[in-house]
Amino acid sequence: MKATSDKNATAAVATPALAARLAALENRDTLRFAMCGSVDDGKSTLLGRLLAEAGMIPDDRLAQMIRDSRKHGTCGGAPDYALLLDGLEAEREQGITIDVAWRYFGTDKRAFIVADCPGHAQYTRNMASGASNAELGVVLVDARAGVQTQTRRHTAILAMFGVGRVLFAVNKLDLIDYNHARYHAIEQECVKLAHDLGIASADAIPVSAINADNLVARSPNTPWYTGKPLLEYLESVQVERKQDAAFCMPVQWVNRPDHSFRGYTGTIAGGRVAPGNEVVVLPSGRISRIARVVGGSSDLDVAEAGQAVTLTLADQIDVARGDVIADPVLPPDVAAQFACHLLWLDDTALLPGRRYLMKLATHVVGAQVTEIKHRIDPDTQAHLAATRLAGNEIGYCNLSLDTDIAYRPYKEDRRLGGFILLDRESNATVACGTLEFGLRRDSNVHWQQLDVDRAARAKIKGQSPRCLWFTGLSGSGKSTIANLVERRLLADGFHTILLDGDNVRHGLNRDLGFTDADRVENIRRVAEVARLMMDAGLVVLVSFISPFRAERRMARDLIGEGGFMEVFVDAPLAVCEDRDVKGLYAKARAGQIANFTGIGSPYEPPESPEIHVRSDREPAVDSAARIVKLLTL
Ligand code: ADX
Repeated sequence: MKATSDKNATAAVATPALAARLAALENRDTLRFAMCGSVDDGKSTLLGRLLAEAGMIPDDRLAQMIRDSRKHGTCGGAPDYALLLDGLEAEREQGITIDVAWRYFGTDKRAFIVADCPGHAQYTRNMASGASNAELGVVLVDARAGVQTQTRRHTAILAMFGVGRVLFAVNKLDLIDYNHARYHAIEQECVKLAHDLGIASADAIPVSAINADNLVARSPNTPWYTGKPLLEYLESVQVERKQDAAFCMPVQWVNRPDHSFRGYTGTIAGGRVAPGNEVVVLPSGRISRIARVVGGSSDLDVAEAGQAVTLTLADQIDVARGDVIADPVLPPDVAAQFACHLLWLDDTALLPGRRYLMKLATHVVGAQVTEIKHRIDPDTQAHLAATRLAGNEIGYCNLSLDTDIAYRPYKEDRRLGGFILLDRESNATVACGTLEFGLRRDSNVHWQQLDVDRAARAKIKGQSPRCLWFTGLSGSGKSTIANLVERRLLADGFHTILLDGDNVRHGLNRDLGFTDADRVENIRRVAEVARLMMDAGLVVLVSFISPFRAERRMARDLIGEGGFMEVFVDAPLAVCEDRDVKGLYAKARAGQIANFTGIGSPYEPPESPEIHVRSDREPAVDSAARIVKLLTL
């Protein structure tokens, strides 16, 4: 028979009983849950066994599983129920972090969408992604081990990403001889953990995936357990669902096929929208009215959350990708500085002051963590002092963006409050986070409009302000060459200033040492000073080791491509060490200086400097002459 989308067609061919069943299925509620557990907790086995016991796996698939278990199962030839998961439909979906595989199954009472979150520490990012879309978290606990660091970490991530209800499935109960007292102690610990983390509701079920205890029916092995078996729990559990009443749509792209049409395309994040509705565009705050709501190729009378549409406005106002079009009665907030929770995912640590990109909804904007308020101990939830965040660590931080954005606290709205941070060079996801609240501080500090500007100051000096940024190992000859360049420039009538690492570290940066975090701050400050000096109309020479690409990039961005010249003063480490003008290499080799660049701390050579000087091959005066020539061209 030909497939048709006409609903009546189903009723016409189905018996009344089947029609009633189909109608019930169509109206089923859907529960999204994230399943987490450590590597050996038996997550896949539990889910596979649950499906098999509930009669959700067709016979031929079961037979296949038995055959496969003999060949390559992990249960010594016995049925390996984890293999059943391979047969479940998996669909990749964009979470707030990265793609995660969601699997679908269902009973006649409820449909389920489950994010299967691998347990290894390096998969924390998938966990975060699963959690950020889940209504319920199911945390597996091995009854023999009880609550482990991983259990605490996973539950903390569920809490951070706003999962309001958690079920602890205490598995492998057979291995503790169905001991009620032991189970009870674990249950208490789990519930306390969830409550300490601020999760509103927590439950526990004693199960054994191997023996199918309490999966679809209450087990005789646990006569003391009076709650629901797992499947019934999943079918009936109540989860909190927020109804976003107010209309809001982040703009994915500006659709401008020709001069006669200008539309804003995106997926409606909340509420409904219809032609004639008044809207506000954020962050600009401009007000307009919806002219048309276009879905696919036709105009719609109304569209609602989840639908992808193109909106046109009655007024010609500026709307860009990343802006949010919203109901002006209950609009999102606007800010550029935030308190947030961050889950760091990258192998390279988070350093305050380093520049990243932030992606929130459809907006991508330059960002830096200005302060780590504290790090959260995964075991005790204690707040620890921290100057950096390593992979898998969670911190509470202040975040500062280059521009205002529209947002809502994550607790109120996952789409407008959840974000990721990207590495500026590689575009890799380095963190995911949740906005707590906007910091009003920035709105109280205004830019002072000055009558005399950089151009005026430069003009009276008859020069264009520039920044020559010398980078290289200690002893490579940066200061020597910078010094020669400045003398030449001065002789030619230029107005200059030389900022040298050793000197600035005696004054402005006296409080900084040589940890990665301090070096980032060292460079941030000197880049800001260089910019101020350029505002004064000067040619600025900066001579700092500046070992990290990311901070040199930050300086380049801050100063502006045209005015920035990176000078790589290059000499092999062995040569610098041989020169050892200050005797520091000898000390570092003797273990008396920690984190010495080139020895205990890395130097990342520039990839495309404006000038590359080989100080071991070219006399300093010649290098200086080349630099001056390029500068005065
Ligand atoms: S940077 O790495 O933060 O850019 P900066 O140029 O300010 O370094 O300072 C480097 C100078 O500090 C070196 O020339 C050296 O004289 C001195 N110094 C002291 N300890 C160290 C260290 N651990 N690593 C590098 N330089 C050090």
